[in-house]
Order: sequence, then C-alpha cells, then structure tokens
Amino acid sequence: MTKILLETLKGNPSDRVPFWFMRQAGRYLPEYREIRQNAPSFMDFCYNPDQATEVTLQPIRRYGMDGAILFADILVVPDGLGQKVWFEAGHGPKLTPVNTEETYAELSLNGFHDKVGNVYETVSRLSKELPEEVTLIGFAGAPWTVATYVIEGAGSKDHAAVRQMGYGNPELFGKILDLLVDATSEYLCAQIDAGANVVQIFDSWSAAIPEPYFHKWIIEPTREIVARVRAKHNETPIIGFPRLSGAMLETYVLETKVDGVSLDTGVPLDWARDSVQRHVCVQGNMDPHLVVSGGDAMVNEATRILDTLKGGSHIFNLGHGFVPQTPPENVALLSETIKNFRR
Ligand code: CP3
Repeated sequence: MTKILLETLKGNPSDRVPFWFMRQAGRYLPEYREIRQNAPSFMDFCYNPDQATEVTLQPIRRYGMDGAILFADILVVPDGLGQKVWFEAGHGPKLTPVNTEETYAELSLNGFHDKVGNVYETVSRLSKELPEEVTLIGFAGAPWTVATYVIEGAGSKDHAAVRQMGYGNPELFGKILDLLVDATSEYLCAQIDAGANVVQIFDSWSAAIPEPYFHKWIIEPTREIVARVRAKHNETPIIGFPRLSGAMLETYVLETKVDGVSLDTGVPLDWARDSVQRHVCVQGNMDPHLVVSGGDAMVNEATRILDTLKGGSHIFNLGHGFVPQTPPENVALLSETIKNFRR
C-alpha cells in the first residue's frame, strides 16, 4: 500500500489529495480528554509512550487521515536541554527564563537524548502500529519560535523580550539559537531513525520580523537544520511552517530548501499556486474556525482550496491547529469532503 502523503511530498501526487490536520490529536476529542485527565502533567503525557501513542492513533481511527503526527510538544527540546518546563491550566506553557549568560550556561546537550528518549520510543511504536498507508510525521519547533518561550519563560503577544535580546545582545541570542539548531537537528534525525517518514518544523511566531532579521533568525537556523537532517536522511521530506511570514514565504522556501511548506490561513491561494507551489509541495490552509461552524461554508471553502491547488503537489490541512471547541462531526464531514475529491 502506498503512503500517498509521503509520495506527494516527493513530487508524485495522486488523484486523491492526502490530508491531515494540525492538532488532530487534542481537546476537541472526548477520548483525548479522557486520557489527558489521567496524566500527572502535560510533559509527563508527552513522555509516556503508551499515552502518546494512543492519542496519536485516535484521530486516525475516527477519520482515516493520510498522516499521523507524533504526539509531543515543541517544548520537549528546551526540557531536554535542562530548562524547567511546565504547563499551567489556563495559562499555557511556563519555563524558567533563559535570558542571561548564567542561565544559558545551565543548558546542555549532555543527556539530551536520554531525557527525551521516550519520544523516540513513541515514534518507534507508531511506526509499527500505524496502518501501512499512513505517513508518520515527526516534528520540532524552529529555533526562533522555541527561543520565544526559552527567553520569555512563557508565551507572549509581541515577543518583546526575545526581539530585544536579538537586537541588543546578538551574541547571547546567537548562542541560544545555535544550541537550538544543534539540539533540533539531532532530535529530528533521531525521530527519523525511530521511524518518522516526514518531519515538520513549526515556526509559529515568524510574523512581522524585519527582513534582515528574518534571514538571521528564521531562514538561517532552519536552513542549517534542513542541511544537517538531509545529510543523514536524504530520503526524508521536510516541511517548513513559517506561520504569518507573508511576503517572505517564497524566499523562505527557496533559501531553506524545504520539500514542502505549510500555508497559514491568510495566504492567498492563487498567489501560492503561481509562486511557492511551482517549487515545492504546499500544505494547507483552511481556517480552523470554519470547522467550528461547519456546514456549507466549510465544505465550499474546502472545495475552493482543493480546486485552486489541484494542478500541483498539495496536502490538505488547516492554516493553524484545531481549536478545542471543534465539533468532531464537522471533522468527519470535512474528512469525507477531502476523500471524495479527485484532481
Ligand atoms: O496533533 C498534533 O498537532 C500533535 C501534537 C502537537 C502539540 N503541540 C500538542 C499540544 C504539536 C505539533 C504541537 C506544537 C506546538 N506546541 C506549537 C507549534 C504549533 C502551533 O500551534 O503554533 C506550539 C507553539 C506549541 C506550544 C504550546 N503547547 C502551547 C502554546 C500550548 C498551550 C496552548 C493550548 O492549546 O493549550 C501547548 C499545549 C499543547 N500542545 C496541547 C496539545 C494537544 C494542549 C494542552 C492540553 O491538552 O492540555
């Protein structure tokens, strides 16, 4: 049986458009909430191969997506480097901020793989348990996006602390990015060794960065990770997701040399078809809130996306992750709409 998502990324698209959804494992599913409730903490959940494997499989059983994304979090990498990471209900992620030479010196790659080893175990189990035609997607956060959490110690609206360090203390900021490049490259290679067929690099916070800094903070670290992963695993496609990067998207694709790019909801599709899709496979880009509303508005928009991108390589996805209030029956209708479409 063919993994059509993997083949599409390699430039061999099929009649049926492959699909998966960001945050397809998550709080909108009652069976996810059931298991999540029994985990002592969110990080324990990510490091529990039984639970992480089970919640990765849940949406595949219900909807038959072509891709299963490993259940973990982008903050596993700073946790593996020795930073303290925890999640507070209603407040999202918290970390002890790394914003001085002293706090930076406490991070280290020594022991990294031992600390995060259970994630590799989850990947290995998934590669055995998933149906043969399903593509297993590993992932990591991009250094810039992970650095926003590492330096701020939490999520934030404008990423003030990280930008100010990037401009004002480029030496310390550069060391943090370099360490994240090292750790992330090794982390993705280990996921591929354990059985991941594809990896995605999430740069969720790449909006509104001045162009020269977009090159330094977003493109260069990602290009370096792509080069290192490809040197070891030439056959494994890499998807980049520079969310909200606007007019920098095509430059990102050409310079990082990713095999595919995820489009956020605001990317105009005629433009994407005529620019980035000529170079690589595109993935996206339905507004997750349309899946909350459902009905004709959702089905019509899915059809518009499929129609516009059908001339080249396309993986159907959202423009960002499902929100917790998404009705599971709308996901079923959306999945059927995509499965019934033919290029
Ligand atoms: O199904 C999947 O998409 C796979 C698993 C996955 C999670 N996080 C699980 C998760 C993936 C790929 C991520 C990536 C991630 N994590 C990103 C990049 C993608 C994006 O959403 O922009 C970011 C920025 C994070 C950091 C993070 N993790 C935040 C800000 C939060 C809190 C927000 C929230 O929704 O509560 C998380 C927690 C998190 N990661 C949840 C899930 C399912 C929800 C936590 C819960 O179940 O209590």
